[in-house]
Amino acid sequence: MPEVADCSVHLMVTSPPYPMIQMWDRLFSEANAKIADLWQQLEDNGEEDTVDKIYDSMHAYLTQVWRETYRVLIEGGIACINIGDATRSVNGRFQLFPNHARVIEACQQIGFTVLPYILWKKPTNKPSYKGKGAFLGSGFLPPNAYVTLDCEFILLFRKGNLRAFPPHDPTRYSSAFTKPERDEWFSQIWTSKGVRQTSGEIERRTAAYPKEIPNRLIKMFSVRGDIVLDPFLGSGTTMKAAMNNERSCIGYETDPSLVSIITKKTMDHYDNSGKIQIIKR
Ligand SMILES: C[S@@+](CC[C@H](N)C(=O)[O-])C[C@H]1O[C@@H](n2cnc3c(N)ncnc32)[C@H](O)[C@@H]1O
Repeated sequence: MPEVADCSVHLMVTSPPYPMIQMWDRLFSEANAKIADLWQQLEDNGEEDTVDKIYDSMHAYLTQVWRETYRVLIEGGIACINIGDATRSVNGRFQLFPNHARVIEACQQIGFTVLPYILWKKPTNKPSYKGKGAFLGSGFLPPNAYVTLDCEFILLFRKGNLRAFPPHDPTRYSSAFTKPERDEWFSQIWTSKGVRQTSGEIERRTAAYPKEIPNRLIKMFSVRGDIVLDPFLGSGTTMKAAMNNERSCIGYETDPSLVSIITKKTMDHYDNSGKIQIIKR
């Protein structure tokens, strides 16, 4: 993110393409020729460790962004990463790809302090397999049934020490959340009751998160006038939430067809209180 200066961003809120989720295979392969070659190799030789190499390379691609995020965040700045694990049969073997664990490990190695994370229990991941409405595996017979993935993670990290403010800083005080908000937002499990899934065509295409997710995170971890970064803008949900909350936002998106959609979405809600910068990679 060469356009963004060191230590200039207060908060990062994002949801990247999830490694080993089929809808993002093409994006990873187009972004990184090594990943495309490895898929080809897997098709040719079916070797077990090729799957591991693909998974490693997908995370190596994302880790570049976590490293840049560390650079651009201010001391005490927070990074919020929404990611889901993946389950998939590759080479005839069904397995879990624990993306959340990989991201935590990568961010820890970069130097972030790992904070307690949020589990977002999604309403849409009802147990269903090939239209049978059944759990994955062998029905009611132990031991070969699988647990359904019905939670995603919102991983939280901090760069360095706690963010410092002057005593009774008016901007900080005017950004305070209420007691009911604190009680709900700072509990570890967020349920579908509080967070509605979005369902428009663009939202499905970009695997958008509901606006309540960035809205809460921005209010929890930034103050009015702050700069929020989303390195994977998608449909621009973070950018819109930032603007609605009087924050500015810098965002990146690699799919050129989304840029006009993001601009329109944010301009519809533009109230002059924040600035936006969309960078097309
Ligand atoms: C899961 S979606 C983000 C969805 C978003 N949170 C929303 O609510 O719409 C991930 C987005 O990252 C974009 N992307 C993937 N690699 C990228 C890269 N290297 N730079 C910028 N954007 C990228 C994809 O095109 C996709 O739109």
